[in-house]
Amino acid sequence: MRIDILTIFPTMVDGFARQSLLGKARERGLLDIRVHDLRQAAEDPHRSVDDTPYGGGAGMVMMAEPIFVTVERVAPPRPLFLLGPGGRRLDQELVKDLAALEGFSLLCGRYEGVDERVRAIVDGELSIGDYVLAGGEVAAMVVLEAVGRLVPGVMGNRSSAEEESFADGLLEYPQYTKPASFRGMEVPEVLRSGDHGKIARWRRAQALHRTLRDRPDLIEARGGLTPEEERLLDEFPPVV
Ligand SMILES: C[S@@+](CC[C@H](N)C(=O)[O-])C[C@H]1O[C@@H](n2cnc3c(N)ncnc32)[C@H](O)[C@@H]1O
Repeated sequence: MRIDILTIFPTMVDGFARQSLLGKARERGLLDIRVHDLRQAAEDPHRSVDDTPYGGGAGMVMMAEPIFVTVERVAPPRPLFLLGPGGRRLDQELVKDLAALEGFSLLCGRYEGVDERVRAIVDGELSIGDYVLAGGEVAAMVVLEAVGRLVPGVMGNRSSAEEESFADGLLEYPQYTKPASFRGMEVPEVLRSGDHGKIARWRRAQALHRTLRDRPDLIEARGGLTPEEERLLDEFPPVV
């Protein structure tokens, strides 16, 4: 999969994408992440990419020209998304849809945002949440990591993506590792029982308890609990 990022801080994004899971996926040729410096397309000696807003007001606005020129030069894979707080909110559903594409691109804004005419060459806007960042780079890194890890082959164990939070509209069940007893806190007996059927039922029950407690909206969104799920909740009480 190819993902292009257009930014005025290429080293920030590229450095991030060289680490850990993404870095390894790049080395193995599973992810082709290309970071483009918008300043390279600025014509003046100062490589300016921003100017004052028409109509007055605080701050600067990113100019359309360097963005148009970069898009024309590099022909980034489509869809090309502008990152911005007004865009479609990223969630795991959208992450999965993006991971199924052959490629896509992200345009990072800075300052007070980008010249409105840039919307003529983007395919949509993506937000990572209802708050305002100083720039799109951190948002691009969030999208990169969330999508990159779902690309086939990137994560060693595929089933971890299938079982984790949001995969089936629930939060994930609690996880434990060694030692079995830590400062008076014990790993639930069932997880040490070796009874895989019971462990699977316990995990599902805990995922349901946790979602009901922390994100009841997710239970509501999937139409409530089935009679089988109600039974599981009765069979296994919540761990905390
Ligand atoms: C300071 S923000 C501009 C905010 C803009 N003046 C507004 O009120 O909507 C600068 C850039 O950060 C990025 N950004 C800020 N918040 C974001 C968010 N929640 N999701 C994605 N990108 C965001 C966008 O690329 C934006 O152009």
